[in-house]
This record gives sequence, structure tokens and C-alpha cells, in this order.
Amino acid sequence: LTRRGLLAGGAVAAAAAACAPVSAVQEAAGRASAGRQTPLPGGAAVEPFHGVHQAGIATSPQTFAVFAGFDLRPGTDRAALARLMRLLTDDARRLTRGEPALADTDAELALLPARLTVTFGFGPGLFEAAGAGHLAPRPLPAFKVDALQPRWSGGDLLVQVCADDRVTLAHALRVLVRDARSFATVRWTQQGFRQSPQVRAPGTTQRNLMGQLDGTVNPRPGSPDFDRAVWVRDGWLRGGTTLVLRRIRMDLEKWDAADRAAKEFSVGRRLDTGAPLTGRAEADEPDFAAVGPSGLPVISEYAHIRRARVTDPGMRILRRAYNYEDGLSPEGRPDAGLLFASYQADVERQFVPIQRRLAEVDLLNQWITPIGSAVFAVPPGCAPDGWIGETLLS
Ligand code: HEM
Repeated sequence: LTRRGLLAGGAVAAAAAACAPVSAVQEAAGRASAGRQTPLPGGAAVEPFHGVHQAGIATSPQTFAVFAGFDLRPGTDRAALARLMRLLTDDARRLTRGEPALADTDAELALLPARLTVTFGFGPGLFEAAGAGHLAPRPLPAFKVDALQPRWSGGDLLVQVCADDRVTLAHALRVLVRDARSFATVRWTQQGFRQSPQVRAPGTTQRNLMGQLDGTVNPRPGSPDFDRAVWVRDGWLRGGTTLVLRRIRMDLEKWDAADRAAKEFSVGRRLDTGAPLTGRAEADEPDFAAVGPSGLPVISEYAHIRRARVTDPGMRILRRAYNYEDGLSPEGRPDAGLLFASYQADVERQFVPIQRRLAEVDLLNQWITPIGSAVFAVPPGCAPDGWIGETLLS
């Protein structure tokens, strides 16, 4: 099959689905493929959609992300959920290949996949609606640092879309939201960005908006420790994972007022190289036993990396965070922070103990405040003839 043939095939089905005249849709598909200019390698790059795991987790982080949280409409039951997930899976499978979704009204916008990934997560309300409440992820306990706002919290269904191109991402989100519309309403959307592959080589650590290298100690995709830390091993969620998404505001004005030594002391790492205060290079192991001339530990007892440390690498969390910056207050203060996305096989055993320690004591808490929080089960991936969520809903 040629690409033109594939598109035309899609267009015929699209016409049936949308009750549009076949000729009009075929024409649109033809225009889309004719409009295909030779893309640069970054635009043409495809992340495989099908597999044991969903894409967008072990995937080297793309430059842009949007996390959309949905509330199910009343009456969206198990059968409706299966229809919804079949539909969204079909959209995601096409869009991530650089093909228009069925009845895509702006087919040209689908032609540059730019490493697009679409990842789905199920919140507690979806399990209730499916009659499987006993399988729902448990809500997080309250942490004393939390200042959570409902407008950034909760949600029955999560759609996480990531791509190296912002236009591709906007189009994919529009298609997915349109197809979800009769089943669910949008509760929140959270837009994030990272340093792009044009400015920072893949595999190197990005800087967050506080200027820190963020993501140094993280499970390495493909390693046995990663598999143990991230993927669930049994039950309906086998091959899946869980996502804790926390929106964490940074008080950057206050951060500006701190001196460099205080900033580095709060984390336990240098700002320039990301090296631990006891080392020279980013990859050096921190020496938590080292003491300075005053007899005090070089890496403070209250430093973020000491408080967050997990000794068993298979029990770490995967941090795949994005920065957010949602404009300025009239006084020019940025509404900025981190969309802290943490993936782990087991929320209670991995995420909660770390967050509890950090909420108890962490020098970084002077500048950061969690203002949103949501937990999702992230189903396994699917085969080309399958759909995301089939192990729960079929
Ligand atoms: C490490 C920043 C929130 C868990 C780090 C590092 C920085 C950092 C600069 C050191 C470099 C690295 O290994 O990535 C931040 C900022 C946050 C934040 C700016 C909020 C705005 C959190 C939260 C958690 C967390 C909420 C978990 C609940 C960790 C872990 C490490 C880490 C596990 C690695 C510690 C180790 O060395 O073993 N963070 N962090 N962080 N952070 Fe955070």
C-alpha cells in the first residue's frame, strides 16, 4: 500500500464515520499527501505506538508535553469506556505514525509526527464507572506542604501528549479531545516544555526554571533496575505503570533573592555542573558521610538529594518532569514551576515514602509548593489489533 492508498483508505472509513461525502474526504486526504513537503529528520521522526508498554514513559522526553485530565460524563459505563478507548487508540496509532486521524479536518497538520507519543492513564473515577472500583489507584495521603487546588487535581482519564513540535502537539490534542467529547469533559490541561534536542543532546540532563540540572539520578531505560522500578509485573496492569502528576509552583522571585551557596546547599549539588557538593562531575556519587572544616556534613541532612535518596535502584521513581510557565502577574511575576511526572510500579511503596520525607524536611521547600496532584494507573501498551485499556475493560 502506498501512503496515498493508506490515506484514501482512511478517508473512506472517515467518510462513513462522519457521514461526509466520500469525494470531499478523499479530496482532503489527497491534498494532505500532496501538501507533504520534505520534512527535516526531526519532523519525520516516529516513536512506535505499539508494544508491551505505552510510549511516552521510557521515551526520551520530547520538547513539549500537554497533560489533559478529563471527567467522565454521567452514564459513561464500561461499554462506553471500551468504545472511547478504541476510538482514542485508533487516533493515537495514526497520529503517532504521521497520518491523519479518521475524519481529521486538518489532515495536513498530522504529517509531521515529530516523535509524537500519546499515553493514557485511568483515574479512580474511571474504575468506578467500569465497575472495577477495587482495582483503582489509591489516592495519595495529604502532605503538609500541599496547597492543592481542585483546578489542577484529580481526573478520571488522563491523556498525555508529547512531541518535539508544538503545532503537532496542538493538533493531536484537538483530535483526541474532539473524539472524547461525547464521553468526557476537560477538567484541566497542563502545558509543559523542556530544553529541546536542538539545544541539548538527548540523554543529557535538562535544566529546570530554577537553573538546576534536573533528572540526574533516574532509572536508565532498558536497564533491569528501570524495569523493576517502573513496570508492573502482574495482574491487569502488567506491562503498565502508575503516574503521579504534581504541579509544583516555584517562587522564582524568592529564589532570585537567595545566594548561590544557599541554592546549592539546599539541593546538595552545584548549579553549574550538577555535581554533588562532594564531587566534581554530575555522575559522581554523592558522599553523604563527608564533613566540612566546621565538622558539619558537606551535603546537609536537610538537602533535597539526601532526603529524596532511595538506596535500592529498583525502588526509585522515574522522574520525567516538564517545566511550566503560564504568563506573568501584573507585577511581572512568572507563574512557573514543574509538572512533576513520576512513574513507578507501586505508588505506595515508591512515591509516597519519598514525598513524605520531603514534606517533613527539605530545604528546597522554601521555594516550592505543590498546587496540583493526580494519580493514574497507566495501562500496558497494545498490539496493532488491540487497544489501550483492553486488559481492564474488555
Ligand atoms: C533530585 C529538583 C521535586 C524526588 C533532584 C535534583 C534536583 C531536584 C535539582 C538533583 C538532580 C537530580 O538527580 O535530578 C527538584 C525541584 C522540585 C523537585 C525543583 C520541585 C519543583 C521533587 C519531588 C520528588 C523529588 C516532589 C518526589 C516526591 C527527587 C529524587 C531525586 C531528586 C528521587 C534524586 C535523589 C538522589 O540523588 O537519589 N530534584 N525536585 N523531587 N528529586 Fe527532586
